[in-house]
Amino acid sequence: MTTSEPISPTTPRSDPGPGDRPDADDFSGLVLRCRGIRKSFRGNLVLRDLDLDVAEHDVVVLIGASGSGKSTLLRCVNLLEPIDDGTIHLDGEHITAPQVNPDRVRQRIGMVFQAFNLFPHMTVLENITLAPERVHKVPRATAREKAMALLKRVGLADKAHEYPDRLSGGQQQRVAIVRTLINSPRLLLLDEVTSALDPELVGEVLTMIRDLKNEGMTMVIATHEMGFARQVADRVCFLEGGRILEQGPPEQVLGDPVEARTRRFLQRIIEAGRLS
Ligand SMILES: Nc1ncnc2c1ncn2[C@@H]1O[C@H](COP(=O)(O)OP(=O)(O)OP(=O)(O)O)[C@@H](O)[C@H]1O
Ligand SMILES: [Mg+2]
Repeated sequence: MTTSEPISPTTPRSDPGPGDRPDADDFSGLVLRCRGIRKSFRGNLVLRDLDLDVAEHDVVVLIGASGSGKSTLLRCVNLLEPIDDGTIHLDGEHITAPQVNPDRVRQRIGMVFQAFNLFPHMTVLENITLAPERVHKVPRATAREKAMALLKRVGLADKAHEYPDRLSGGQQQRVAIVRTLINSPRLLLLDEVTSALDPELVGEVLTMIRDLKNEGMTMVIATHEMGFARQVADRVCFLEGGRILEQGPPEQVLGDPVEARTRRFLQRIIEAGRLS
C-alpha cells in the first residue's frame, strides 16, 4: 500500500446505537474483550471459559491443533455462532447482550475465511460494493470511489472489472479482504486466509496483512503459518481443547514455550516443515 492515509479507523465510531454505552468496567484501549466464553455443539464443549483481550492496533494470532476451537472463537466474536455463556465486548459495547442486532455489530467487524466466497457472476468492483450499496445504502458513486481507492492501494485497480475466475487465488483473497475493508471495520478476523492458496501466492496475501498491521488495523488471525505468526503477531495464543493454554510475544510462545503441550504442538509443526 502506497499512500500514507490509514485504511483502518483509529477511533470508535461516533454513531452509537442502542446498547453502545460502555459498561462500568474499564475497556480503555480495548477493541475486544471476551470473558468466560463457553460454546458447545450437541454436547461437545468446544470453547471452555475462554478469556481474550485485544487492544487497539494489536495483532493477536491464534494457533493450535485442528479442532482446538480457533474458527469457533472467531465465529462467536462475529456473532455467527451464539455463545452458551460468557460475554463479548466490542469497543466497550456488550455485543452478546440479547437486544443487540448482530447485523449492526458485523458492520464493525470484518471477517475473511479460507474460501474467498466472492460471487462468481459479479466483477471485483461489484463484489466489493454490493454490501455497502444494498445493505448500508451507500450511494453507488461513493461506494465505487472508495472501492477503487482501496483496490488501487493494494495494487488491484486494473482488476476492478474482471470476474473472480480471471484472478489468481492470491488476488481473489486480497479482493475478499478489500471487501471487508470498505466498511472501515474496527476489527478484522482472518481465518486461515492462506490455507487454500498455492505456496507461491501466499506471500502476496501475507504482505497485505502486514501492511494492514502497519496501518494500525486491529486483527485476530487464526493461522497454521508459524513463520507469519512470528512476523506479524504482537501476541500469540496457543489454543488447546477450547482454552488459551499459553499466550505471549511470538518469540516466547513460538521460541521458548512454557507449556509442554505447546512444545509438543510446535514440534509436530517443525516435523511437518511448517515452522519457517
Ligand atoms: N457447526 C458445528 N457443528 C458441530 N461441531 C462443530 C461445528 N463447528 C465446529 N465444530 C467442532 O468444534 C471443534 C472446534 O472446531 P474449530 O473449527 O473451531 O477448530 P479449529 O481450531 O478452527 O480447527 P482447524 O485448525 O482444523 O481449522 C471441532 O471438534 C469441530 O468438529
Ligand atoms: Mg479453523
